[in-house]
Amino acid sequence: MHESVLDAIGATPLIRLRRVTEGLAPRVYVKAEWQNAGGSVKDRAALWMVRAAERSGALRPGGVIVEGTSGNTGIGLALVGGYLGYRTVIVIPDTTAVEKVATLRAYGAEVVPTPAGLAREDPRHVMNLAARLAGEIPGGWLADQYDNPANPQAHRDTTAPEIWEQTGGAVTCFVAGIGTGGTLSGTGTALKEKGPVRVVGVDPMTSAYGGGDGSPYYVEAIGHYRHPDTVEDPWPANWDRAVADEVVRVDDRTTMLTARRLAREEGLLLGGSSATAVAAALRVARDLGPDDVVVVVAPDSGRAYLSKYFDDGWLRRLGFLTEPGPDAPSPLVDELSIAPLPVVRASWTVGRARTELGASSAPAPVARDREGPPAPSEILGAVTAADLDGRPEDTPVRDLARPAPPSVGAGESLPSARGTLGDAAAAWVIRDGRVVGLVTRDVLAPAG
Ligand SMILES: Cc1ncc(COP(=O)(O)O)c(C=O)c1O
Repeated sequence: MHESVLDAIGATPLIRLRRVTEGLAPRVYVKAEWQNAGGSVKDRAALWMVRAAERSGALRPGGVIVEGTSGNTGIGLALVGGYLGYRTVIVIPDTTAVEKVATLRAYGAEVVPTPAGLAREDPRHVMNLAARLAGEIPGGWLADQYDNPANPQAHRDTTAPEIWEQTGGAVTCFVAGIGTGGTLSGTGTALKEKGPVRVVGVDPMTSAYGGGDGSPYYVEAIGHYRHPDTVEDPWPANWDRAVADEVVRVDDRTTMLTARRLAREEGLLLGGSSATAVAAALRVARDLGPDDVVVVVAPDSGRAYLSKYFDDGWLRRLGFLTEPGPDAPSPLVDELSIAPLPVVRASWTVGRARTELGASSAPAPVARDREGPPAPSEILGAVTAADLDGRPEDTPVRDLARPAPPSVGAGESLPSARGTLGDAAAAWVIRDGRVVGLVTRDVLAPAG
């Protein structure tokens, strides 16, 4: 029995994984953080940050809680703020899913949208706008989950002692994704003070934390994306790299497939960051023995992601699911002849693009400057060699970009892909969330 909703934050169960762990020696438990009152691990940090601000006087009666976040921290702050009688203002990127915006509003938060995909220095960037509003609104206080020490402190004070007690001190390995780093740093530090616990951070493959190039990935709420125009890219103070004995990197496809297995085989419908962390935990568990006890944090439920990771159509269109199934009988786009696609970078001149494209008639993506195949979100448009004809060598090629052709997923059935192709001469093919090639009409929808 709890005397208030705030007491229903923390004290989450550990649930043992039994099916996906087959053949592994150690016991592996998920820490069921979706069972917090607001539905995620971030309730802990939200409550601790608000309480610390009240104690320090940074947040006074009648004050206003402000934060820039598209995710669970906003929900936690809105819940705690609403209950304690504070106005809560949450700045979100305008690409945030409608369900999340609706959830924030349902808790009474005021939502301020700002354009997504801006460089860190842009004054409209979520974090910069939130900081400005906190300064302008009378009584405003910026929660600042990335640098606020009360965030990891919540995990030192609650998550770590819970895990220690629940396992009777038997925990030998702790695994968690890294968003702000609060969960990993706080829990990891406190567990290490209690005994020899191996601490494993988990990062999406292309995230910058674990050594990736910072290019887009499809798991939400963990990792560090780096916009190509960003110059100064500070990492959160709450990500204490010294705590992690290692950082395991997990690609998006593995995350998606793990999320499906957890739901179907374990009866655990978990969010993407949980699936990433479990995938890493299973990898680490291979090298551990029968006396080992692995605890992996499952930050939230899969309910918020039903239209993504649990939607086969979404998985097929992004080329994460490329096996035939009842919804998509063979042959799939992936089985067709997919032509390689040159990529033109946004900073290039016409001269450089001409060299790269040669006589190719394919519409090449004009993508933000990076190595490798671009994610759709990095593509500004398309150019063909013919578009460059007659243009001065030093013209910026991005000025010539025209609308991109349709894109089809490697996992889509041919009827589905033909529907997307419409009247176009060719379509780009997306595999693992990246534009990797091109199929022409002759191949995808041959006449006759
Ligand atoms: C679903 C989910 N997973 C993981 C994290 C990362 O947790 P932390 O910020 O403590 O590193 C968050 C944080 O917002 C989250 O919302």
